[in-house]
Amino acid sequence: MPTLNWIGKEAVVNHHQQVPFHLLKDVPELACGNPGEGNLIVQGDNLVALKALLPYYAGQVKCIYIDPPYNTGNEGWAYNDNVNSPVIREWLGKVVGKEDETLDRHDRWLCMMYPRLVLLKQFLRQDGVILMSLDANEHRYAELLFDEIFGIQNRVETFVWKKSYGGGAKSKQVVNLHEYILCFAKSRDCLGEIVLPPDENTRRYYKFSDHNHETRGPYRLQPLATNSMDARPNLRYSILFEGHEIWPEKQWQWSRERSLVALENDELVIKQVKGKWSVNYKQYLKDGDGEERGAKLYSIIEGVYTQHGTNEVKELFGDGKAFSFPKPPELVQKLVQAFSDKDSLILDSFAGSGTTAHAVLKQNVEDGGTRRFILVEMGDHIARNVTTERVRRVAEGYTNAKGEHVEGIGGGFRYCELGEPLFDEHGKIRDSVRFADLARHVYFTETGEPLPRERVSKSALLGDCRGVGIYLLYNGILGDKSANGGNVLTRVVLAQLPPFDGPKVIYCAGCLLGRDRLRAENIIVRQTPYEIKVS
Ligand SMILES: C[S@@+](CC[C@H](N)C(=O)[O-])C[C@H]1O[C@@H](n2cnc3c(N)ncnc32)[C@H](O)[C@@H]1O
Repeated sequence: MPTLNWIGKEAVVNHHQQVPFHLLKDVPELACGNPGEGNLIVQGDNLVALKALLPYYAGQVKCIYIDPPYNTGNEGWAYNDNVNSPVIREWLGKVVGKEDETLDRHDRWLCMMYPRLVLLKQFLRQDGVILMSLDANEHRYAELLFDEIFGIQNRVETFVWKKSYGGGAKSKQVVNLHEYILCFAKSRDCLGEIVLPPDENTRRYYKFSDHNHETRGPYRLQPLATNSMDARPNLRYSILFEGHEIWPEKQWQWSRERSLVALENDELVIKQVKGKWSVNYKQYLKDGDGEERGAKLYSIIEGVYTQHGTNEVKELFGDGKAFSFPKPPELVQKLVQAFSDKDSLILDSFAGSGTTAHAVLKQNVEDGGTRRFILVEMGDHIARNVTTERVRRVAEGYTNAKGEHVEGIGGGFRYCELGEPLFDEHGKIRDSVRFADLARHVYFTETGEPLPRERVSKSALLGDCRGVGIYLLYNGILGDKSANGGNVLTRVVLAQLPPFDGPKVIYCAGCLLGRDRLRAENIIVRQTPYEIKVS
């Protein structure tokens, strides 16, 4: 398989491992409605924020949508990751210029994206997908980057989004009207069939009605004959109608038996026009169970334009200055509808004006879903005054530019900032780290899975994963708060541990039990803080 190489690649392929774990700090005054609804907005660089979120959400996200800087040379983005490499240090803080100004602009963009995509992959469920918007600036490199990180076999599609309908008076050669949306699955084999509810365009074709209308809805006519399938002799037969034998040019789509039943049930429409017989079958909008026939998702997305996104922000904030080039919510909603279930978790780590949250809430209203969102936005001003404010207005209602009140559609959320790193500069766990915080990190370190919400309790036994009991001795969880007292595994402490029938992994500050005793008790000891590491 061809792979992509660029300046700095070697320095960033494992960078996600070096990013320190930070705690998340709630900012209750920026929360909205019921913060327990499961929606979350995080302000901070997504490299650090994603790492902080992993112990909570790894393997749980059904759909990631990201819209990172396109590297157009107009965005003013700078590479700022703390990678320990001389080449990369050179770039720190310098704004990436236009094509001929910054020869390493593509290298910097790839270095920025690589560790973030590696982290994002860890959030996906087995049947999850990641979608990324971008334009021609990085599209050709991004395809190869995705092949490498997600696996070429998991490529689902590159959507072409027709973002505008014309214009481009200043273009010297070609007027560009489209962008791309890359789509990769965590595992394409696990991604089910994608069927959308019929849209208005599709419904227009269902214009006839018969005695089945109540149960099957309206119908459209589709030709029963086909010339496009491989020749199948059993599909070539005559249909008897009012004494005429009607033959297909090549063959029918249905077996003889199925056609006979349809004829008897008045589901074939047979006509002679200008001496030629035509046989059509009635395709009803609803199947036999009353379910509406779904529409397929096309690789070209039309009918929703950049201008819609700008109008939406104008409608919400009174003018379009709050955020430049937001995506239209209908575009993201279409993706959310296609690639998530009604109760899915959706993640956007380049949140901007919060379009993804808006799309998730709208989709929930339309289909009665309970999807939740996690947004990450780096800009402090944007996160507080645009992302959060937009989602709050959408959720709680607002007065639009025309002075009319728009009802809220609901959707409470938590707002967090990045707190301190878990470990101090000497590698010690900070005093401020609570048992529940460390428990999540320990459990995730050991299992690669988040500690289930209902299991976060004040017990040294965090839970069992695949038959192994995971314990944490920290902050004197068993009652002994003396320095290192209850955090060291001794005979006395062992006797006090909540029982677990099976092998145990115990995270503790030290261990005074001998090897034989540990073997006899089926215990593996992991010393904190050194063995709390997550790749
Ligand atoms: C193209 S905009 C996204 C627009 C968004 N889809 C919308 O419809 O409003 C990219 C956003 O990502 C943010 N961003 C850039 N680098 C980031 C990073 N490292 N971590 C988090 N956010 C970042 C920028 O501040 C900007 O708001």
